Amino acid sequence: MKIGIGNDHVAVEMKKEIVEYIKSLGHEVIDYGTNSTESTDYPKYAEIVAKAVVNKEVDCGILICGTGVGMCIAANKVKGIRAVVCSEPYSAKLSKEHNDTNILTFGARVIGPELAKMIVYEWLNAKFLGERHKRRVDLICDIENRC
Ligand code: RB5
Repeated sequence: MKIGIGNDHVAVEMKKEIVEYIKSLGHEVIDYGTNSTESTDYPKYAEIVAKAVVNKEVDCGILICGTGVGMCIAANKVKGIRAVVCSEPYSAKLSKEHNDTNILTFGARVIGPELAKMIVYEWLNAKFLGERHKRRVDLICDIENRC
């Protein structure tokens, strides 16, 4: 898969480690920055990666900030994005199987790199299960189209 990744200044080191890990799994990574530890604003990177996902430049996205929360909120503002913030692998896996998430976020101040790798692994390897879950995801899309 081709995976887009973005982060703010808090998560530069974590991002580097995650990029190497994703590559070691055989995936291609597009790094949308930042690669500077100078203070920046996470919504910029969330928007860039979210647009890359909806425009199909990449298959899915990963966003890292201090908590993962700001990135998740910002990415979910882009139509077609279903982003999830995870601090453990179970929710990451189920978010793909049931909710068809297309962006994963997490916090470099919340979890360490080894737990982050487990979360990434489960999320990348999970598949959307469709059927009743598709009906529910379609209802989410309806809200997006109405509101
Ligand atoms: C930056 O200080 C911090 O607010 C950001 O990394 C993130 O945690 C926001 O949700």
